[in-house]
Amino acid sequence: MSDLEVLHSVETFRRTFEAARAEGRTVGLVPTMGALHAGHESLIARAGDECDLVAVSIFVNPLQFGDPTDLDRYPRTLHHDLEVCRRLGAGVVFAPGVSEMYPDWPEPPSTVVSVGPEARGWEGSSRPGHFDGVATVVAKLFAIAGRCRAYFGEKDFQQLAVVHRMTADLGFPVEVVACPTVREHDGLALSSRNVRLTPDERRAAAVLSRALSSAAVAVASGERRPGAVGDLMAAVVATEPLVTLDYGAVVDAATLRTPERIDGHRPLRLLIAAEVGGVHLIDNAPVEVGRRAEGVRALAGAVTGG
Ligand code: PAJ
Repeated sequence: MSDLEVLHSVETFRRTFEAARAEGRTVGLVPTMGALHAGHESLIARAGDECDLVAVSIFVNPLQFGDPTDLDRYPRTLHHDLEVCRRLGAGVVFAPGVSEMYPDWPEPPSTVVSVGPEARGWEGSSRPGHFDGVATVVAKLFAIAGRCRAYFGEKDFQQLAVVHRMTADLGFPVEVVACPTVREHDGLALSSRNVRLTPDERRAAAVLSRALSSAAVAVASGERRPGAVGDLMAAVVATEPLVTLDYGAVVDAATLRTPERIDGHRPLRLLIAAEVGGVHLIDNAPVEVGRRAEGVRALAGAVTGG
């Protein structure tokens, strides 16, 4: 097990990554807000498989919280987090204080990063400014880290789309690596919010992943109407009285826009969000356009000359 360096200053973290690259080592960054669980662990482990030196950043970014009480009650478990990072062989934890990242805080930084359509709608509607806060802190982390791979979870699919877009638009020399969602045995996606559910709510929350599976099966079996796929997810969620659907939709995986019709031309994604006992939960899944449907379309194309 390697020694873990815990760094609090921007300059030291920058130099550590620079020095590693100068020695010919590849470097990986795993941005987190701490309170690490098995979902975060999968990102750190993947980074360890693919990079010579892994840095985990732990920073509860005030810029992405709309509600100050939400920020205050966000779990802070640095001691536990350092143990996790050590166990997984990370070389560096970058844990800056708020004034290190935002010297004028509580004044926000003068420069912020604002992402377009990918950041609007879905989670962006209920949390105004949230994704600008995420994009700003991730841009700053990328600027400090320099050329690297950076690991993000598919669990937060819209965040991933925002980070992809921001990285491309601003030209950061960072390869964004998307990692699959880690789930509980009943399909519930791991989240630091799950501990706030009562046992009954926790049981009911599994309906989100069941709704995604039903929708995925429907699309694989030939459903081509986005509205019908959304209705199906709503119907599955409606079977659980403790769960209130926020949205359920099929979207273009890159732009997050709803397509007019489902086809196999561009990658699509199912998104779902719901309230369970006052806790906001999100999940998503890929959509495979089914073979049976492909066959039907190919046949239709042949018949119509398309
Ligand atoms: P945080 O919620 O701590 O999540 C850190 C990373 O862990 C994110 O990329 C997230 O998608 C991933 N993650 C969370 N739960 C997961 C699961 N069940 N399976 C796989 N990956 C999972 O997301 C943030 O922090 C912040 O917005 C951040 C990007 C660090 C910017 O402040």
